[in-house]
Amino acid sequence: MLEIDVISLFPDLFGSFIETAFVATACEKDLARVRVHDLRDWTQDRHRTVDDSPYGGGPGMVLKTEPLIPAIEALAGAKGPERRARVIYLSPQGAVLEKPKLAQLIAVEHLALVCGRYEGVDQRVLDLAVDEEISIGDYVLSGGEVPAMVLIEGLVRLLPGVLGNPSSALRESFGGDLLEGPQYTRPPIYRGREVPDVLRSGDHAVIEKWRRERALEWTLERRPDLLDRVRHQERKKT
Ligand SMILES: C[S@@+](CC[C@H](N)C(=O)[O-])C[C@H]1O[C@@H](n2cnc3c(N)ncnc32)[C@H](O)[C@@H]1O
Repeated sequence: MLEIDVISLFPDLFGSFIETAFVATACEKDLARVRVHDLRDWTQDRHRTVDDSPYGGGPGMVLKTEPLIPAIEALAGAKGPERRARVIYLSPQGAVLEKPKLAQLIAVEHLALVCGRYEGVDQRVLDLAVDEEISIGDYVLSGGEVPAMVLIEGLVRLLPGVLGNPSSALRESFGGDLLEGPQYTRPPIYRGREVPDVLRSGDHAVIEKWRRERALEWTLERRPDLLDRVRHQERKKT
């Protein structure tokens, strides 16, 4: 089972995300367990303080070492031999998330995801309590909650038994070496645009060949870098 603990200042953001579609399916089938924790539950003061102004001045607020480090350690153990979960801080400064990282993390049975807010976290949180930083792209969001959901959904889809039809994961973009080509459903003609005859031919071999050709065309047109990567990997093998 994949266990995921999330630490956030806005745990309510995760409500319907966890209760809907594949994440809910994974939890119902006991393939995953996702628990979202309110960082303020680890505060000690009356105002439930989590942030303070940055040393050296500057705009915004920074999440403090306490309560964040105690929260992380309560859920994942202290860094070192006692650590029970891999601690990931969602951060625009981390390595950008790609499929190989998902495949690597799915093998780690317990993850703790730390969602930043405001100007981010005190550097000592990263030094003392975080194992890895992951970004979802080169842009800045207001918090780590949406990035954490991106990571959770990416992982859950890879769990065997979650997708109704496992072969769909292989066909879709990044499932293999190509993007997925165009898809159609009823009606056969819409505003004068017709579904290609081949898809209605019932000849599965011809349909597969057509799909592969379109996937190749689209990948060449939209993401030629993916084909370069495949060529590079092939060269490395020989
Ligand atoms: C406004 S951002 C802080 C940005 C930080 N001051 C910087 O310049 O790197 C607040 C929080 O949102 C999250 N965040 C923002 N953009 C992200 C991204 N591209 N990937 C992952 N997390 C992100 C992080 O948890 C971060 O602590």
